[in-house]
Order: sequence, then C-alpha cells, then structure tokens
Amino acid sequence: MSKVTSSTLLKLKQQGQKFTALTAYDASFAGVFDQQGVDILLVGDSMGMVLQGHDDTLPVTVADIAYHTRCVRRGINRALLIADMPFMSYATPEQTMVSAAELMRNGANMVKLEGGLWLVDTVRMLTERGIPVCAHLGLTPQSVHLFGGFKIQGRDVNNAERIISEAVELEAAGAQLLVLECIPAALAKQITATLSIPVIGIGAGKDCDGQILVMHDVLGISSGYIPRFSKNYISQTGDIRAAIDAYVEEVKSGAFPAEQHTFN
Ligand code: KIV
Repeated sequence: MSKVTSSTLLKLKQQGQKFTALTAYDASFAGVFDQQGVDILLVGDSMGMVLQGHDDTLPVTVADIAYHTRCVRRGINRALLIADMPFMSYATPEQTMVSAAELMRNGANMVKLEGGLWLVDTVRMLTERGIPVCAHLGLTPQSVHLFGGFKIQGRDVNNAERIISEAVELEAAGAQLLVLECIPAALAKQITATLSIPVIGIGAGKDCDGQILVMHDVLGISSGYIPRFSKNYISQTGDIRAAIDAYVEEVKSGAFPAEQHTFN
C-alpha cells in the first residue's frame, strides 16, 4: 500500500475522486483510521477542546502538538500526517521557522496554519525552506474571539471575495492543500474549482475535493454540542472500524456531507 503524499491528493483531485481526512491524537486511533483507508490524519489544535477540555483552541502549545504528532506517527503506515501550528506559534518569521521545524522533526509531513493574506509571505518562507503547508480559511478557530464566536464566514459578498482572493494568493505562495471551514457551499465550490491544489472542507459542502471531521464527533464522544456539519457514524454502525468505513465510503460516494450538514 503506497503512502499518501501531496502528489497522491493532487492526482485524486485531477481525477475527480474524493479523499478523506480525520483528526487523530494518539497511536491507537491513528492506526485504526490508517488501516480503514483514511487518507490524511490531522493532529489538530482541536485537541484543546476535545482532549484538554478548554472552550477553544488557544491554550494549545507547540509542545502539545509535537507530543501528539509523535504518538500519531507511530500508529500510521499510509496516511499523510499534518500537524497544526497552534495559536501564536507563527506570529513572527523566527517563531514560525522554529515551530514548524519542531513539528516536522516530530513526524509531521506538512504543517497547517490558519489565516489569509497576512500569511502569504509565511507560506512562501516555509515552502522555500522545504516545509509543506496546508492553509486554512473561513472559520479559523484561533480567531474565534475576533469573530465574536464560532460563526459561519463568507456569507456577504465582500467577505466571500476576500476569501477567494486569499485562497488564490496562498496557492500562489506555495500552499499544497487548503482547508475551508464553515463557509457557504457555493463559495467552497467556486474556490475548489478555481484552485489547482486540493481543497478539504469541514462545514463547506459536498463539492470540496476532500472532507475532514473531528474524530470525537464521528465516534459520538464529543460532550454536549455536536456541530451541524458533523455526523456521528457510531450511532449507525455501533463499531469503530465500521464507523470509519462508513465515513470513508460516504465521502467517496458523495453521500456525505448531505444538505443537512451544509451552510448556504
Ligand atoms: O484543529 C482541527 O481539528 C482542525 C480541523 C477542524 C480542520 O483544524
């Protein structure tokens, strides 16, 4: 079974085939997700909420992500491993290089950063130095306090146009993947068609090249609030491997996300 790389994902996009991604934070779950054919595992700063019990992702540190990246790395053979750059770990060029290098040394294949135009030079700097980058636009949770809550982004024309031009600039700067979170499906469709690089959606409709969800939502272990864009696959399968199989199958067939998981 050959390893998933950015070239694999690019080829899938060009062939019109969907791919799957999940968050993972430890070797055991990562092993199951990898064996069931999930293409990308993300050590997300969502760990601040689902592992550490915070209200947002801001308390997560580079050391936290590095530790969980090491754990996940030991569990996988095939999937591409992306590590999140946590809040304030890429505010200056020096900080960015130190943080990104640390995550790559701990087993990441790529780092993910949240933000638009202000990150274009950062993405260029990282990629010129051999560190692959996944960009992240739309509802970027590290900016939750700036947004005034976890709110859908890109609903008005100005914001939608800004997100489109940021996506284009980030691709031109060298980003190899883009996550779009909680934006209207039509906007995500337009961005996915405009960019050459693969686009991964979460709450961004069915027309993205791939989908990502937080593992705790898929396995029904998130406490309290389950986001509308997510789906609990355990409740329909009753078994972790079967749940992951169902998620992979539904993304590949286009059954997930359905209309009820989508924003307009
Ligand atoms: O931290 C995370 O889990 C993420 C995904 C929700 C895309 O950034």
